[in-house]
Amino acid sequence: MEDTAARPRVFVARRIPAAGLDAVLAGCDAVVWEDEAPPTRDELLRAVAGFEGVLTMLTDRVDDTFLDAAGPGLRVVSNMAVGFDNIDVPACTRRGIPVGNTPGVLTETTADLTWALILAVARRLPEGERFVRSGAWRTWSPTHQLGVDIHGSTLGVIGFGRIGRAVARRALGFGMQVLYASRNQVDPAIGNALNATWVPLEELLERSDVVSVHVDLNPSTQRLIDAAALKRMKPGAILVNTTRGAVVDPAALYEALRDGVIRAAALDVTDPEPIAQDDPLLTLDNCLIVPHIGSATEATRGKMASMAAANLLAGVRGERLPTLVNPEVYDRA
Ligand code: DGY
Repeated sequence: MEDTAARPRVFVARRIPAAGLDAVLAGCDAVVWEDEAPPTRDELLRAVAGFEGVLTMLTDRVDDTFLDAAGPGLRVVSNMAVGFDNIDVPACTRRGIPVGNTPGVLTETTADLTWALILAVARRLPEGERFVRSGAWRTWSPTHQLGVDIHGSTLGVIGFGRIGRAVARRALGFGMQVLYASRNQVDPAIGNALNATWVPLEELLERSDVVSVHVDLNPSTQRLIDAAALKRMKPGAILVNTTRGAVVDPAALYEALRDGVIRAAALDVTDPEPIAQDDPLLTLDNCLIVPHIGSATEATRGKMASMAAANLLAGVRGERLPTLVNPEVYDRA
């Protein structure tokens, strides 16, 4: 019989796909949060006490209070997401705790979803679907539900990392001009291959027919798309957000959509999540909202789970995490 006494004790904050969970269960003495709903803050703080490793979701805030609750034995925080704005990384580093994430594996899947959203709002698919289901479809009409063309239009990509570039690459097939705004300009060879031109953010907002946001959430990108930014956009433009809800000011977006400052928006992410049922954005026909499903395919969530498990297992074994957010943690004396 296996000796479980020596196995590291870990907490897994949700039931993750088997591709990752099986590895965790094989290597550790694991407690898994089985509810579909995430633990409340109090439940989470109680649940993590005494574990050597935690595998967290983007819904779990990891800060000094969390780390105190986990206790001094905590050796690793493994987040099953590429984004880690839910984690106070400096707080983890100060305590010598490596933090892992899941970059790379969700790039193409998130870019696919971004395109699904662009096309859905441009061609008003949610309205059309509601129209058919309501029984209102009587005949073909020359003027009913006219959308806008995406082919040949201009795509503005804000944040030109892995996902932003994957979104831009798909635009080649639609014969689009691509503008991008980011802190650093990419290697000209990459820009040329993607037919993408760097412009200042203001110019991107003024010239793009579709604006797609792909920056990380951090203090400098919080509410990056505010009332002033929306006002710079073309009245016929579409805004798409598949990164983090807090990058867009939801009240300003509501007013811009209501008043025709921009044509439409598609959001995979909101602030807060889930969006409140009485949020005014839900009253608008020109706003499509889906529930943070950018990476939600069977294959990709399996890969994310597997990477998160690999980081967790490395951490509890005292090995370097394969995908590490805070390499400086290993530089500490
Ligand atoms: C991430 O990984 O950060 C996404 O938002 C969830 O897949």
